[in-house]
Amino acid sequence: MRPTGDWQPPLLALADSDIDEVRAAALLLAGAWDVDAGKARIYDAAGNSDESVLVRTAAFRALSLLEEGKGKDGLLELTGTQMSLALRIELLKSLSSVDVNTASLQAVDLLVGGTMTTDQQQSLLTALLSQSGGAESLNQGLNEAPLTKTQAQTVFSNLLATGQANQNLLSTLAGKMDVSTEPPEYSESLVKTLKKQAERTGDVNRGGTVFKAFACAACHRISGKGGTIGPDLTGLGTTLSGERIIEEVIWPNRQVKEGFTSLRVITQDGQVLQGFERKTKRSEAEGGLALLDPQTQDVIVLAQEDVDEVHKAASVMPEGLTNLLSPQQLNDLLAFLMKRQND
Ligand code: HEC
Repeated sequence: MRPTGDWQPPLLALADSDIDEVRAAALLLAGAWDVDAGKARIYDAAGNSDESVLVRTAAFRALSLLEEGKGKDGLLELTGTQMSLALRIELLKSLSSVDVNTASLQAVDLLVGGTMTTDQQQSLLTALLSQSGGAESLNQGLNEAPLTKTQAQTVFSNLLATGQANQNLLSTLAGKMDVSTEPPEYSESLVKTLKKQAERTGDVNRGGTVFKAFACAACHRISGKGGTIGPDLTGLGTTLSGERIIEEVIWPNRQVKEGFTSLRVITQDGQVLQGFERKTKRSEAEGGLALLDPQTQDVIVLAQEDVDEVHKAASVMPEGLTNLLSPQQLNDLLAFLMKRQND
């Protein structure tokens, strides 16, 4: 995508602009186009504590874009320097595309440090999980990390909200909370018992609180509020029987709802994409793939030659969430779900 002609001098002049936005954009392009004469400026900006967060973030990203991972050593060196938390998160996001192992381990240190906001955790986790091998190295780091139960609970919720959580990661975090994510063995009589108990002793109002507190609302909307990763549950009680609701909540992989089949795709350049399978005119015509990114709701169309591997992933709805609930909380939650009517 590099332009032709003598564009380098004007680009370098823009990299010296007084306007932060212009400088940031020029540095990013200098990195993306691997401009030799721009490298000194990229390194300077990346390491200069007088630069704004915007410009330094662009410089980190530029380093990660240099050809053949040439910026990796520069990024690694920067991890040993002082900077604000917001900048360190940006640094690790850039590092994740050239050295996902180191980025994951350092991200885990920040998670244990425990001062990140919800948005910061989610954006860092998303960056790591979208790299090939990211989920594995994050899992290893979390496994060995001294996370408290409360910290594990927070990371667990944020991971769910990214829509890219895999069951291994969730199991590791649940383990830190001393809970297993193995669902009970399925049986019709267990479903019947749970339904009866929920009808008799479940409290719909308390169930609504459980729904919000246990990450359900991170993925599901009810009456216009909540996440968009999973199906809207507003009229659930009128579309699914009590038995089917219980089955969906405790054994989400028994029947995956149409339109929510999740694919994990590894591209030729090592990116991991996970999303719901969609068909578009272009994907149908060219034989490629279309994926709906559950977090952003964007549809990504991939040409066949860009796809290396395609795996059918487990339901995005995690298993074992209900193991985190007390029996009464489960009764309340199920009562709440069975009573959902259209507004
Ligand atoms: C990470 C996102 C996520 C979280 C968290 C999540 N779900 Fe889901 N849920 C989904 C997706 C995606 C589906 C559709 C795929 C499937 O059927 O397995 C689904 C399906 C369902 C269904 C079936 C809906 C239908 O119309 O068939 C119910 C009921 C449900 N979830 C309830 C819950 C409850 C209760 C919680 C909290 C304990 C929860 N979910 C947490 C993503 C999530």
